[in-house]
Amino acid sequence: MTNRRTLVAANWKMNGSIEGSRVLAEALIDGISAETPAEVAVCPSFVYLSQLSEQFKNTSIKLGAQNVSHLDEGAYTGEVAASMLVDFGCEYVIVGHSERRMHYHETDSCVAEKFSATQINGMTPILCIGELLEERESNSTEEVIARQLDAVIDKATINAFDNAVIAYEPVWAIGTGKTATPEQAQDVHQFIRLRLARHDRAIADGIRVLYGGSVKADNASQLFEMADIDGGLIGGASLVAKDFLDICHAVRK
Ligand code: 13P
Repeated sequence: MTNRRTLVAANWKMNGSIEGSRVLAEALIDGISAETPAEVAVCPSFVYLSQLSEQFKNTSIKLGAQNVSHLDEGAYTGEVAASMLVDFGCEYVIVGHSERRMHYHETDSCVAEKFSATQINGMTPILCIGELLEERESNSTEEVIARQLDAVIDKATINAFDNAVIAYEPVWAIGTGKTATPEQAQDVHQFIRLRLARHDRAIADGIRVLYGGSVKADNASQLFEMADIDGGLIGGASLVAKDFLDICHAVRK
């Protein structure tokens, strides 16, 4: 059994203000210590990275971004390059979040390019994959997950997953209060690991697969106890310090 350290990552999405982010970050700094069982990361909006990188200096809280350009530099108005995120001390980048796939038409191959841009710049991608409600209801969850995963394996190669995190986020569970049951999530997490194991067993065993979708303090521990669930990607509950800290401390393994 590989020892995978649980990761709890906050996705603040498009929320906050300078002052609100500062106060929330302070509360997290106060609540996270060497005894906190999980590794903790926060992914704010780009515009708060500067402030948070100062606040998290000399703490164990890691910084991440919610998106990145697949391109290095140049005339791409409004885009943010991976090298710029490195300047602010980002260690993680969320790529392929369903909200980006849905509202900004990011395709599997675009997500694969963002995954590679993140890694080439020395950061760790958190690759989000997950099915829509109608896909679950038509029994195509595994097909969708396989397609989203294979697009990245094909472009980046399986070896790239040595430094990556996967987040399984069923779209129907995001922001809806409808969490997947621990068993439903475990089934898909196991499928993800088996899919990777077809290429490389050690990488499949070592990679952390997070669950995201209406994770709250009162359901986190049951989810995190499942064999193939290695933490969570937290949206709404990460905006309330106590709720997020409770999730970070809900880790027993
Ligand atoms: P919620 O926790 O608000 O459901 O959001 C999950 C998510 O999308 C994290 O990336």
